[in-house]
Amino acid sequence: MAKFEVMDHPLIQHKLTMIRDKNVGTKVFRETVREISTLMTYEVSRTMPLKDVEVETPICKTTKKSLAGKKVAIIPILRAGLGMVDGITEMIPAAKIGFIGMYRDETTLKPHEYFVKLPEDIAERQLFIVDPMLATGGSAVMAIDALKKRGAKETAMKFVSLVAAPEGVKAIQEAFPDVDIFTAALDDHLNEDGYIVPGLGDAGDRLFGTK
Ligand code: PRP
Ligand code: URA
Repeated sequence: MAKFEVMDHPLIQHKLTMIRDKNVGTKVFRETVREISTLMTYEVSRTMPLKDVEVETPICKTTKKSLAGKKVAIIPILRAGLGMVDGITEMIPAAKIGFIGMYRDETTLKPHEYFVKLPEDIAERQLFIVDPMLATGGSAVMAIDALKKRGAKETAMKFVSLVAAPEGVKAIQEAFPDVDIFTAALDDHLNEDGYIVPGLGDAGDRLFGTK
């Protein structure tokens, strides 16, 4: 079974609690999602492989560590996943970025795919699939499926969310047991409208000021 990690770093927890507050406006919400994403990247990348490289300091030649292995692609699930991209590229500036557009039907809660644009070498990269909210898991499962159909490998995927419901975690783990899942919080449950409780509301609307 792949990794499932709730990131309990105090800064992540503090910032996440800030944006759960319904009175926080678009500016602070957006800035804080970005900051949390940067902090999460630190933890998500912890197992990245290293290799020895030679470097000449002003004092002498030495052999030290440098990143090795597959390069990264960040795959935000639109719209809300976009809010996490800048925070991650701050740490991994050379990452390529692919997009999966998906919206959840408000009545059936089923996801609908409307856009896919990925780097050509997707099969050769480590993938950070990002979406602040993992609710029923329908969007995440459809996004992972879309990536696999285009040659991406399950073992190379890390799904990164800010708030997850147990239902969503279970959906990914059952469908794709080799995908690592990272979240800043594992909340209680989903309500009858499919929203995470206590959650933070509609992440896309809060990020982009659309409601
Ligand atoms: C939200 C969220 C996820 C999805 C999670 O997106 O950003 O993509 O719902 O729900 P699920 O786990 O039940 O599929 P939404 O469909 O509201 O679209 P948006 O990002 O454009 O606001
Ligand atoms: N999508 C959101 O943006 N929030 C939720 O609570 C559930 C799905």
